[in-house]
Amino acid sequence: MNPLKVLYVCSEVYPLLKTGGLADVSAGLPPALAAQGADVRLLLPAFPAVAAGVTPEGPVLPVPAGGAPGLPAGLGPLPGTSHGPDPWLQRGRIGASGQPVWLLHAPGLYGRGGNPYLDGSGHPWPDSAEQFAWLGWAAALLGTGLDPTWCPDVVHGHDWHAGLAFAYLHQLRLSGSRAPGAVFTIHNLAYQGVFPANVRERLGLPDALFHMQGLEFHGQVCFMKAGLVYSDAITTVSPTYAREITGPEQGCGLDGVLRQRQEVLHGILNGVDEVVWNPATDPLVQPGFDADHLQGKAAAKARLQKAVGLQPQPDALLFSVVSRLTEQKGLHLLPAVVDELVQRGGQLMVLGAGDATIEQALADCVARHPGRVALRIGYDEALAHGVIAGADVILLPSRFEPCGLTQLYGLRYGTLPLVRAVGGLADTVTDCSLENLDEGSASGFVFHQLNGTELSAALRRAFALQRRPADWRAVQRHAMALRFDWARAASAYLQVYRRAATRTPLAIHGTASA
Ligand code: ADP
Ligand code: GLC
Repeated sequence: MNPLKVLYVCSEVYPLLKTGGLADVSAGLPPALAAQGADVRLLLPAFPAVAAGVTPEGPVLPVPAGGAPGLPAGLGPLPGTSHGPDPWLQRGRIGASGQPVWLLHAPGLYGRGGNPYLDGSGHPWPDSAEQFAWLGWAAALLGTGLDPTWCPDVVHGHDWHAGLAFAYLHQLRLSGSRAPGAVFTIHNLAYQGVFPANVRERLGLPDALFHMQGLEFHGQVCFMKAGLVYSDAITTVSPTYAREITGPEQGCGLDGVLRQRQEVLHGILNGVDEVVWNPATDPLVQPGFDADHLQGKAAAKARLQKAVGLQPQPDALLFSVVSRLTEQKGLHLLPAVVDELVQRGGQLMVLGAGDATIEQALADCVARHPGRVALRIGYDEALAHGVIAGADVILLPSRFEPCGLTQLYGLRYGTLPLVRAVGGLADTVTDCSLENLDEGSASGFVFHQLNGTELSAALRRAFALQRRPADWRAVQRHAMALRFDWARAASAYLQVYRRAATRTPLAIHGTASA
């Protein structure tokens, strides 16, 4: 049997470019798919950091704009990128992993440094729609045979950045092009890629797509919705989030669309990349440790306390955050419970950046409790490993959480997650209730309502468990033994791909789950 060819379309990949968990997934899932026989190529914009990490192979492939001679009618034209020549594709391999990729070059769109989505003042780049329309357009052309030597069976797009691929593929399919299976993954429904209606002309989108059952959303163009309505199958990154987004509370206005497509919506839990996140071998955390040998963890705690200016107390319960500091993560609740956390003898280390109000409130906590609370604003991969290894508890009081990866890393490193029961957090962490302790299933601390009272009760449960060292040890041992591997997720994705390639709906909602 020929290997299933998968074009994996995304905007970031660890370690080249990362703003969040999407990059970890783009690094972890493709090799796991390849290990199960798939032939996977990534397609990414050639942002400078990405291009710098890819070794080019073979000749370049020009990407004709829509409406060009030889392309089916009904599309385009996409304009030139207005800053330079039409885009082109370069095949290559990611230096660190050998992963095959296509890079989409368009110097006028992708050539600048910094954050791929936001300018220096935190606003979306003014040509954001063009940036990701071209990504979608290149994906659709590769999907319909632009490179006759490698025609994918499946185009798998991730988040709104890849959404338009599915609208273009739909149009190309209508005009008789070959039609690969089309799979769209939601990593975060809250970021939708919404642009004014008149962007259509610039993006070569025919009026026929601009209606309620198409990519129109409250009179605007929605890239995320294009992915939802024009794909054969939709996945998201946990079974609970797959259910939540079909309701108004977490559906971000798209719950109606998702309910209509419920038959082809699957929740597949993310995995942990063992190459990057394994406490025994992590080069950023040496000496390493495992469930039976925790001296390395104690050393990591001492190193962390020293590095960030916390008092060197081995017994102080050390809480941590490694996160974007946004409303999503529920961290606006944290400052109000910090005084109590410190009074109970705890310490807190926060690594993150984002919302200025949350940053300031946390900075005020540091000022009130020097040596007990530490804050590092910014993005620091090495420190993230140091925090997750050295802390006792990792906090994710999220308002919503499609999957969440840091609680999985926390489990692996014996750093018990304290989470709100939402999305992937509900699927991966089990509370230290007496009955769960009794049956050996407890792995962390779980609360339900998004308020300070419940968060504070969960913190008190952590202190209570600390006073029962044998129980803490048992919970930690169980947490460290849990495995959320990419192999399991990859086999679920392959099932979805095969159905999409043959257009057979996988009928049962959430079947592909863990
Ligand atoms: P999200 O994608 O919503 O931000 P995830 O939990 O899925 O949340 O993934 C976040 C990823 O980003 C994890 O790998 C985490 O370690 C990393 N991360 C978040 N904030 C920082 C930071 N300030 N410095 C380093 N790594 C960070
Ligand atoms: C998004 C979500 C996060 C998820 C990540 C990877 O950024 O916010 O919960 O883990 O994507 O799928």
